[in-house]
Amino acid sequence: EISEAAMGDSESHRGFDESQPANVNWDELGFGICPTDYMYMMRASKNGEFVNGELNRFGNIELSPSSGVLNYGQGLFEGLKAYRKPDGGLLLFRPEQNALRMQMGAERLCMPSPSVDQFVSAVKKTVLANKRWVPPPGKGSLYLRPLLMGSGAVLGLAPAPEYLFLTYASPVGNYFKEGLSALNMYVDDEFHRATRGGAGGVKTISNYAPVLMAQRCAKKRGFSDVIFLDSVHKRNLEEAASCNVFIVKGNVISTPPTEGTILAGVTRKSIVELARDNGYKVEERTIPVEELMEADEVFCTGTAVVVAPVGSITYRDKRAEFRTGTGTISQALYLNLTGIQMGLMEDKKGWTVEV
Ligand code: COI
Repeated sequence: EISEAAMGDSESHRGFDESQPANVNWDELGFGICPTDYMYMMRASKNGEFVNGELNRFGNIELSPSSGVLNYGQGLFEGLKAYRKPDGGLLLFRPEQNALRMQMGAERLCMPSPSVDQFVSAVKKTVLANKRWVPPPGKGSLYLRPLLMGSGAVLGLAPAPEYLFLTYASPVGNYFKEGLSALNMYVDDEFHRATRGGAGGVKTISNYAPVLMAQRCAKKRGFSDVIFLDSVHKRNLEEAASCNVFIVKGNVISTPPTEGTILAGVTRKSIVELARDNGYKVEERTIPVEELMEADEVFCTGTAVVVAPVGSITYRDKRAEFRTGTGTISQALYLNLTGIQMGLMEDKKGWTVEV
C-alpha cells in the first residue's frame, strides 16, 4: 500500500526513523500542525472515479497555479480523531459520518467524491501508517484531516477536470488555549459566517477564511472565539467560527437547526443523541440572541473542540455569565462522549470503529 517511491527515500526525506517512538512532548500538545510520517492520496479524473489510492511520505504537493481549488475555492475538508485506548487499540469515531458529509459537500461544489468505503479505508490507512503519532491514552488524539479539491487546471469558472483526495494527520491536544476551562465568547453582529442558499451547511474551505477577521478582532480583545448571528435578522444564534453552539435552560437543551447555514457537526449530532438518551429534551430550533444571553449553560461542540463550556458571552454592551464545571449538563455530556470516543465506556451506539 505504501508507494515504492515513498519508501525509497526514508533516510533522506526528513531524517525520521519510524521504528522510534514519535518525538513529541505529549503533555504540551495543543492544536498545531505537527508533521507526521505519511499522508494518503487518491485521484479522480473527469469520469469522477477515485482510483489508485496510496500512502506517500507527508510533504508538499504540486498543484497547477490554475487549479480549481486555488482559483475558485473548489475544496472541502473534514476532521476526525483517532484515540489510543488503554489496551493499546486505536479507535475512530463515526468516520462514515465524515465520509457522507464530504459527499454532500462534494455535490454542492460539483465535485466527485470517494465512496464511504474508500474514505474510511483511507483514514484507517493514514492512522496505521502514523501509529507512532497517536498520543497515549488521556494525552490527546491523532487528528485526521481529509481534503477534497479540484486539482485540475481551469481558467473560466467551471468544475475542475481532475480531483485530489488527500488525508494527513497530526497529533493534537486541546483546541483552545483555555484547555478544558470555560471560554469567553464574543457575539459579532457585523460579520456573518453563512447566508441562506450559501454553503454554510457544508465543510467547504471557503467558509473559514472569511471568519478570520471577526475572530482576530475578538481575540485581540481577549475573547476565545466569535459567535455569529444569522445574516437576515442579525438576531438568531448560528455558530462559532470553529464549532457549533448549544444552550441549556432548565432541563431543555437547544441548538440551531441545520437548515443550510449551520455546519452539520458530527459531534453536534452525537451530543443531540446522547442528551436525548440521557433523558433531556433537545430542541433544534431558532434561538434569539436574547435567549442565548439568558441561558443557564452554554457550550460549544466540534471534533476539534469536543465539548467546551462557555463561561461568558459578550454581546454589544452586555456580558452574561453561565454555569460551568462540576455538576453541569455540558460536563456530563463531555464525559459521556469522550468516554465512548476513548474506549473507556461501553459503546452502546456502535459509534466507534477499531482501526
Ligand atoms: C473540526 O472541528 O474538526 C474542524 O474542522 C473545525 C476547524 C476550525 C478546526
